[in-house]
Amino acid sequence: MMKFLRLLGEWGAVATDLVSSIAPVDWVSLLAAIIVILIFLKLHQHGTRRRSSKLQQHKLPPGPRPWPLVGCMLQVNDLPHKWFANLASTYGPILYLHMGSLPYVIVNNAQMAKEVLKTHDMEFASRPRSMLGEVISFGYEDIVFRSSDAKWRALRKICASNLFTPSGLKTTTALRQEDMLFMVHCIHAAAKSRSIVNVKRVIHEANLNTMCSMLFGKRYFRADGKLDSKGKSFLDLLDLLVAESGQLNLGDFIPALKWLDLQRAEKRLRKDLKQALEKFFFSKLAENRKLHCTNKLLDGKESHLLDFLQSLKGKESLSDKTIAGILCDLVLAGTDTTSVTAEWALSEILANPHILHKAQEEIASVVGQERLVQESDLVNLPYLQAIVRETLRLHPALPLGIPHYNSVATHLAGYTIPAGSTLLINISAIGRDPANWSHPTQFNPDRFLGSDIQLVGEHFHLIPFSAGRRFCLGYPLVIVQVPHVLAALLQTFDWSLPAGKRPEDISMQEKIGLACYRAVPLEAVASCRFPAAPYLSKLSENIQGS
Ligand code: HEM
Repeated sequence: MMKFLRLLGEWGAVATDLVSSIAPVDWVSLLAAIIVILIFLKLHQHGTRRRSSKLQQHKLPPGPRPWPLVGCMLQVNDLPHKWFANLASTYGPILYLHMGSLPYVIVNNAQMAKEVLKTHDMEFASRPRSMLGEVISFGYEDIVFRSSDAKWRALRKICASNLFTPSGLKTTTALRQEDMLFMVHCIHAAAKSRSIVNVKRVIHEANLNTMCSMLFGKRYFRADGKLDSKGKSFLDLLDLLVAESGQLNLGDFIPALKWLDLQRAEKRLRKDLKQALEKFFFSKLAENRKLHCTNKLLDGKESHLLDFLQSLKGKESLSDKTIAGILCDLVLAGTDTTSVTAEWALSEILANPHILHKAQEEIASVVGQERLVQESDLVNLPYLQAIVRETLRLHPALPLGIPHYNSVATHLAGYTIPAGSTLLINISAIGRDPANWSHPTQFNPDRFLGSDIQLVGEHFHLIPFSAGRRFCLGYPLVIVQVPHVLAALLQTFDWSLPAGKRPEDISMQEKIGLACYRAVPLEAVASCRFPAAPYLSKLSENIQGS
């Protein structure tokens, strides 16, 4: 302040000299101006003090300085979970930053995740809005993008009790066993000709068959690799969704620019994608309704989720948009996630041949070679289960989960999180935190043998399915489906790498899209371990094409 006054005095003297040389000095006006400046300075000083004490009260978590308008959007790279983990080593486990003009909070360790998903679970249980979310949720009528209201709870309950409870899973066990057989037959064909197998593709086709038959009684892929025209348009739709989910829409981050629609996102999403989704799902609903009218399939004889959803009556009945939103959610949330997890697991197994041999020995001793491994065998395969847990720790399919959102200001770990913040849980960083995991980047399933660490519940240092009221709805299916796929791959085939490649050449580079994919798809060569195994001779007629 003194420095400023001295400067002001000097400036005043110079100015006075100047002015007096030009015009007669108006001493009264000069004095008045000085008094006004002093009052302004006093008020400014008072305001600053009040503002900084307000900031003390509403302390924000630390984080990098945002650029005007774009925030940190120019700094974040293709693997945001890695970038956030890096920032956390400078700023600490809870970060606050802006993406565009929107506030983001990212939690990067188990303790902070527990605060958010347990202590403040309810406050952070909403979802932020986005143009893509609005379109694929049929206007927030679904489960994934819907805010946590009573209807969201009811929809979760309906799906969980139909598909994911032990009895729900039991009714679809046979169907999944057929899809395992389908997968094994596809690989067997490649093994006979020693061709290279695109592992993700075969797993994904089997998973899609499983999911679509659980949801609406249709398998699109046939073991002979053929697809009918409906199957083709379904695949095109999925490709479109994957492509759109990889695009960043500026209008979502800088709402002031939304009206300009600089990337033409509004047209692409609200018109083209919306139309494609409505065409596919609404015609599925109409087809199924027609089938019920002609075959009288209902009256307690529902055979898949769509049957059940359309059978709900009166107060419980659901609109077409809600049913379509749920089906779309489950196809999107439930296929790529499971397929990439199985692909990551096989990649790590091939990069570590001693793990391959140990797992194959375990499966051979429990299942033998006469029949294909079944879901009921999994409980007797602890090493295989450990491989799956280690994969979910090191390669969570959704490394930043699905964004949460608080609609009221929330106090968290001594900070105030402003209302309207998007919250990300860095599941990937938590699974690799050296504070909780020794040699965290090493793939070592043995760390889970004899351990009581659960995948959901109290252990916040391993949360691949997140936790709290929003935790993954499909978790009970994943923990049977992924080990089952893996067991079938290891029981039936020996795996080697294409000519000239060594285990240490397998890249573990990631690529983000709808899930966290391998940057380079895994290619391997399969050879049949027991060519005379009875289950390899005939493929059930059901899966030749349904
Ligand atoms: C390896 C496979 C999977 C992983 C790692 C995974 C992980 C997750 C994660 C991290 C979330 C976000 C939870 C949150 O918001 O805090 C989530 C949500 C969800 N998952 Fe999964 N998931 C997998 C497979 C599945 C499957 C197979 C289905 C269903 C068929 C499914 C259905 C859902 C649904 C519906 C939600 C949204 C829940 C809600 O908003 O209330 N997921 N999943």
